[in-house]
Amino acid sequence: MAVVEALLYFPGVAGTLLGALLLLLLLSRLSSDYKSQKEGKEPPGPKHLPLLGNLLTLDLKRPFDSFCELSKTYGNIFQVFLGPKKVVVLVGYKTVKDALVNYADEFGERDITPGFRLLNDGHGIIFSNGENWKEMRRFALSNLRDLGMGKRGSEDKIIEEIQYLKAEFDKFEGTKKPFDTTRPVNYAVSNIISSIVYGSRFEYTDPRFTETVDRANENVRVSGSASMMLYNIFPWLGPFLNSKRIIMRNLMKNRAEIVKLITGLQETLNPHDRRGFVDSFLIHKQSVEQSGKKDSYFHHENLLMTVGNLFVAGTDTTGTTLRWGLMLMAKYPHIQDRVQEEIDRLIGGRQPVVEDRKKLPYTDAVIHETQRLANIIPLNLPHMTSCDVTFNGYFIKKGTTVVPLLTSVLKDPNEWEKPNSFYPEHFLDEKGQFVKRDAFIPFSAGRRVCLGESLARMELFLFFTSLLQSYRFTTPPGVSGDELDLKGVVGITLNPSPHKLCAIRRS
Ligand code: HEM
Repeated sequence: MAVVEALLYFPGVAGTLLGALLLLLLLSRLSSDYKSQKEGKEPPGPKHLPLLGNLLTLDLKRPFDSFCELSKTYGNIFQVFLGPKKVVVLVGYKTVKDALVNYADEFGERDITPGFRLLNDGHGIIFSNGENWKEMRRFALSNLRDLGMGKRGSEDKIIEEIQYLKAEFDKFEGTKKPFDTTRPVNYAVSNIISSIVYGSRFEYTDPRFTETVDRANENVRVSGSASMMLYNIFPWLGPFLNSKRIIMRNLMKNRAEIVKLITGLQETLNPHDRRGFVDSFLIHKQSVEQSGKKDSYFHHENLLMTVGNLFVAGTDTTGTTLRWGLMLMAKYPHIQDRVQEEIDRLIGGRQPVVEDRKKLPYTDAVIHETQRLANIIPLNLPHMTSCDVTFNGYFIKKGTTVVPLLTSVLKDPNEWEKPNSFYPEHFLDEKGQFVKRDAFIPFSAGRRVCLGESLARMELFLFFTSLLQSYRFTTPPGVSGDELDLKGVVGITLNPSPHKLCAIRRS
């Protein structure tokens, strides 16, 4: 449908021009096919049309489902054409792991699509490559660790934030006011990365903060829409697309907010008292400038983009996963019973801490199973080959877009007993002890593996156990759990479909 809508923008294109264009495309395809045949066998894939490629047969709203379907015919490595752009899709645990880990360099570049370029212009971490990416990623990882990411420092911040979130949940008075969990959960989670990045949290009543979080989340949703997928293929559609306008507007406003925050921190900077990541960056930038080094990556644009990346990546993902967890508890009350029985028996009424994870194998299994089934980044972020590579007998050219399809790993029928069900037993042995599973890679793997994995895992454990300790999550009175659907709403992340829950105080 989206393709047809897009084509409606060209009713007046002269036939001859179109004919010439198609001929040109056909010739260039024939010549590239000839070249590739010389270089080696390309991955198989469905036949494609010039210009449109396979667009007419893909479900652009849920491309990951189309890719899983195609793999039934073409195997675990196949190629499709999104318009004129060739994309190699990797399917299933063994293939994805092999590519990302054993061919880490070859498959380790990011494909910076036009939509992502709008967001970052090649700066920051998520949508950058080469030396810029290396320097920013290395600096962020080591400084975030120094600032306590995934360690004691962030544990204290998370525990503090949980109290604010509970106060928010209490305002809905149990079954009296069923509520949408999106905003309070996102604000709480966002405050964790904010306090690591800026050195302070924000009130949920501060409109500058809440609007920034809401805009960032809207951009994650819109960036994964069918129309932005079309924009990535045919960037000249930009001026006609409302989605692009929304993204640009949100981006400009959020950028202005980040600039204000950074300026405030710069004015009060004390090199002997680092409050957060921004301070670390500013101090490093100053020392690079003083040393007279030219062409440094530590400039204002990289600071803005890296901060923006951490803020978005650290909010939407973890918030979405937590919301899936609460929804699944309301949908499957017998599983919620077992989680609460375990927490009551082993933790009682005291605040859960990270150390408790070992004592709570069932709860831990439920959190892992939530991440597996929720499958929040089904397509993964797009990768790109850094050089020509022959992988599993197929030749893939340098600069080819590669989709290491995470949904096909998290739901791989060769790895999971019940791939499409919520089955915490996937992570339990016969004695009820927690077991790790190799195919559990919601954070991806290899060079581009999620930079915030340790922080996200800590947040999920502490938020989930503390909330389940204090509340019983149910559907609103009169609404059955069957009405909570598992399909989700697609953006770059897969969100639970709109729903309301009741949080009934247990303690
Ligand atoms: C449940 C929570 C999370 C999930 C499921 C998740 C998942 C992912 C995935 C799948 C990728 C792409 C990996 C690839 O390209 O192969 C990624 C990248 C990234 N994530 Fe996360 N993430 C989560 C939380 C976080 C948090 C809390 C942070 C903040 C510190 C973060 C920061 C990043 C960054 C900076 C990248 C880009 C890495 C790069 O391109 O080198 N993520 N994440």
